[in-house]
Amino acid sequence: MSEFAELKVDGNTYQLPIIEGTENEKAIDISKLRAESGLITIDPGFKNTGSTKSSITFLDGEKGILHHRGYSIEDLAEKSSFLEVAYLLIYGRLPTAEEFKAYKEEVTLHTLIHEDFHKILDGFPSAAHPMGVLSSLVTAMTAFYPKSLDPNRSWDEVNLSIIRIIAKMPTMAAFAYKNKIGHPLVYPDNRLDYTSNFLHMMFGLPSQPYDVNPAVSAALDKLLILHADHEQNCSTSTVRVVGSSQASLYSSISAGINALWGPLHGGANQAVIEMLENIKADGGDTKKWMAKAKDKDDPFRLMGFGHRVYKNFDPRARIIKKAADDVLDSLGVTDPVLDIAKGLEHEALNDQYFVDRKLYPNVDFYSGIIYRALGIPTEMFTVMFAMGRLPGWIAQWREMRENKEPIGRPRQVYTGETIRPYPGS
Ligand code: SDX
Repeated sequence: MSEFAELKVDGNTYQLPIIEGTENEKAIDISKLRAESGLITIDPGFKNTGSTKSSITFLDGEKGILHHRGYSIEDLAEKSSFLEVAYLLIYGRLPTAEEFKAYKEEVTLHTLIHEDFHKILDGFPSAAHPMGVLSSLVTAMTAFYPKSLDPNRSWDEVNLSIIRIIAKMPTMAAFAYKNKIGHPLVYPDNRLDYTSNFLHMMFGLPSQPYDVNPAVSAALDKLLILHADHEQNCSTSTVRVVGSSQASLYSSISAGINALWGPLHGGANQAVIEMLENIKADGGDTKKWMAKAKDKDDPFRLMGFGHRVYKNFDPRARIIKKAADDVLDSLGVTDPVLDIAKGLEHEALNDQYFVDRKLYPNVDFYSGIIYRALGIPTEMFTVMFAMGRLPGWIAQWREMRENKEPIGRPRQVYTGETIRPYPGS
């Protein structure tokens, strides 16, 4: 592979360096292109544009590969825990047994949120979507922890801000849910592990202890692992760009939550279940809905299918599909929308439109079915995605900060009116 790409424009030749990553990915470095040629590039949606060099997550979309710090998602989902994967992503390596014990204890110390948060929660009508409540509560953390506003403070103070949001996210998520259904809040029980504590706060009542089903807690912990990071996706890129202005960690995470909310991104897991329920209510005619998904005049898309990077099976979807079967079997639950999902998947994998466009089930296609089986309501599905993605957002924000990356400010090509006199002048 040559070290340079040559660009010939108007009789001029520009040499652009080619860089190569540790997994043999190659990129043309255009950071000096405008200074040397006056030219910029344009790439709506950044489909062909890299924003950074990162050592956190590696994806190979053609082969359906996902690694975090060199460990395969299959190994991590099978052998690790969500808090250990969070440690791996944020601090760059797996913790020793002593380090992990101390980390869990430190996270446990910070699970409570200030009582004044209840005034914010009380301000939301019960119709409020939990994602909007969650992003507001995360932004409010800047008010309760003003030292978190300055990302240039000592590493110990930045790390305390990181520990606080890892610890409080499940509490804020569960409180958003309780506030929506008008139930009394259930405070964290720090004798429980991270995921069991969340289930306790979600489904418990102050008057009666909640017996966490170990199979449910294990399934949820695996789901959180599968959502932990995914390189430069829409919400992570949002966190990086917001953080690049030296906005605080909590402001950057809140922006990421709002980007994730969209139905083309993390909101797809809620949209998938709503789509499957619509198909079921419509009589379960999957062929009719497949035709709608292919009809350019019909805005309907097969939610949970397709991916910007994966042009093969999303490895997370494979793991989640098996986990869905296992969870429903272990809980003795049958879910008719699972049968519709499997029917749609079979048809799509054999349909030329989907095959030609390499549209496969993504992480969101089956996750909602497990969340439903675990008793998590549909409007909380994307909140679960945000809880899982939190350590990835933090790790990427930290990497951007420590690499002293410049403020994110893309260029444009102007296509509007050229200069003209103001009327009457
Ligand atoms: C996530 O980036 C990440 O890593 C995200 C994520 C993460 O972990 O952070 O993996 C999580 O967001 C998964 C994606 C969840 N979204 C959905 O399931 C929504 C449905 N899928 C899409 O809308 C779409 O596939 C995207 C948004 C995921 C990707 O869109 P792209 O890469 O911009 O591709 P595109 O919209 O240009 O589509 C290419 C073609 C088009 O057809 P043509 O114009 O070429 O004829 O494929 C078609 C699209 O119409 N197409 C679909 C389709 N997805 C793409 N047609 C029907 N149904 C679909 N789902």
